[in-house]
Amino acid sequence: MSILTATAVIDMQALANNYQVIKECAPNSKVLAVLKANAYGHGLERIAKALPQADAFGVARIGEAILLREAGITQPIVLLEGFFSIDELTLIVKHNLDTVIHNTFQLDAITQQLLTESIKVWLKIDTGMHRLGIDPDDFHYFFNTLKASDNVQPSIVLMSHLGCADDTSNGITDTQTALFNQLNNEEVVERSLANSAGIFAWPNTHYNWVRPGLMLYGVSPMLPEAKTGKFQENIAPVMTLKSSLIAIRKIKAGETVGYGGTWQSNLPTTIGVIAIGYGDGYPRHAENGTPVLVNGKIVPLVGRVSMDMITVDLGNDSTDKVGDEVTLWGSQLPVENVAKHATTIPYELLCNISRRVHITLK
Ligand SMILES: Cc1ncc(COP(=O)(O)O)c(C=O)c1O
Repeated sequence: MSILTATAVIDMQALANNYQVIKECAPNSKVLAVLKANAYGHGLERIAKALPQADAFGVARIGEAILLREAGITQPIVLLEGFFSIDELTLIVKHNLDTVIHNTFQLDAITQQLLTESIKVWLKIDTGMHRLGIDPDDFHYFFNTLKASDNVQPSIVLMSHLGCADDTSNGITDTQTALFNQLNNEEVVERSLANSAGIFAWPNTHYNWVRPGLMLYGVSPMLPEAKTGKFQENIAPVMTLKSSLIAIRKIKAGETVGYGGTWQSNLPTTIGVIAIGYGDGYPRHAENGTPVLVNGKIVPLVGRVSMDMITVDLGNDSTDKVGDEVTLWGSQLPVENVAKHATTIPYELLCNISRRVHITLK
């Protein structure tokens, strides 16, 4: 008998479907597929190779970009936070990468170093999220300085990032978009603003380039009450996280389960032990009642999550057996639901999948 331990099933058909949904949602925009954090836990090279139709890729660290080049990826790759040292500029040239410029250090470095080739730049403006980006008042100075440099390719993309697009009742997105539109220079040809939430819910943020991350992996970033069109229903989860029951035990009313004995059963019941824990990336903070799918039925997580195991209440009349497969999230159990029970967001759950989790392709 061989029992399945933590396994992420990656559905390449779902990935292709989601890319198609993005194209339908933003038909006039090019697509920069965001692959940072190991493609949100789905496998950097695997996902890049499965998207030959993507117009560009986005990563957060230069190491990720170099891995993609070494894997033979030829599309443009954008460093979404730019570079962090002068040395990285040489690597940017060597590997033919695009870089975001969002601060004075980067502006000075790219315009003052001696470079053998010019670099494609995405100039990032802070339109209200107040994370990365230059002050809109500095736009002309940055743009003109970059334009005048032989180290910078002539077609600079203007970009910004949305902070609240998951909430369709929040006016900040319109304020950010209006500010973005005010940044005018006749030499700006291309613009980029929308992340997944912008793509789903704010068509006026699509511009020339959309930058989907989460929706590419079949997960919605939108708040439950947000108003979006039909597109949100058409995406499908790329990752399904599975494992199986490795022990089953009967407990009496009043007995507790797991470290600290934090959960106590009111009734006699059956506890199922599943081979997955925070060592695999299952969230340690998942609360009692977090849904787990066992033999087609949602059962509640009970007791603390351990490093390698979790425990669920299968009910007193359970017929589940050791070796039965369970689903932690994915198709049939949205990772969004699990995230809510762990007071986190699906982004964190996906990109925390650890190295020991087996990967199988579907
Ligand atoms: C600059 C930038 N663009 C796009 C994205 C993709 O966002 P999402 O995964 O919400 O689509 C991110 C991710 O945080 C980002 O930092």
